[in-house]
Amino acid sequence: MVTDYDLLKKQLDELAAEEPFYVPLMSNAAALMWEAMEDINWVGFYFMKDGGLVLGPFQGKVACIHIQVGKGVCGTCVERDMVQRVPDVHKFPGHIACDSLTNSEIVLPLHHDGEVVAVLDIDSKKFQRFTEEDEAGLRKVALCLEENLKWE
Ligand code: SME
Repeated sequence: MVTDYDLLKKQLDELAAEEPFYVPLMSNAAALMWEAMEDINWVGFYFMKDGGLVLGPFQGKVACIHIQVGKGVCGTCVERDMVQRVPDVHKFPGHIACDSLTNSEIVLPLHHDGEVVAVLDIDSKKFQRFTEEDEAGLRKVALCLEENLKWE
């Protein structure tokens, strides 16, 4: 089943209209994606804080709390300010295995005032889980969050 990203975006817009503060909105965004996406084993956010990434709202197993910029898929996403769509994490230099069952993942940067302030990380046990179509849909989700999130 292909995820209906337009529906996801609509649901996010509605949630944001009620409360755009980043804690509830990102928590519910993770919960929505957890329900809407097949074959994922983790979905959530890391925030930039004190020059590194720190764990934010998520669904799935207990995860690594700190990730350095430039390390792993999330840290590479921040360093390059580029979406990282990884078909096989075992071939990604420095991949951080929070869950050894993860085989593919996608990480997207979230910006505020021109800076990367967070990343959206989604993992799967399936190799090549995330298609170009997923990337395009998730870019829209990330943009929707960037437009709506209130950071204080
Ligand atoms: N896989 C990530 C680490 C975060 S966990 O997957 C939740 C990475 O290499 O950046």
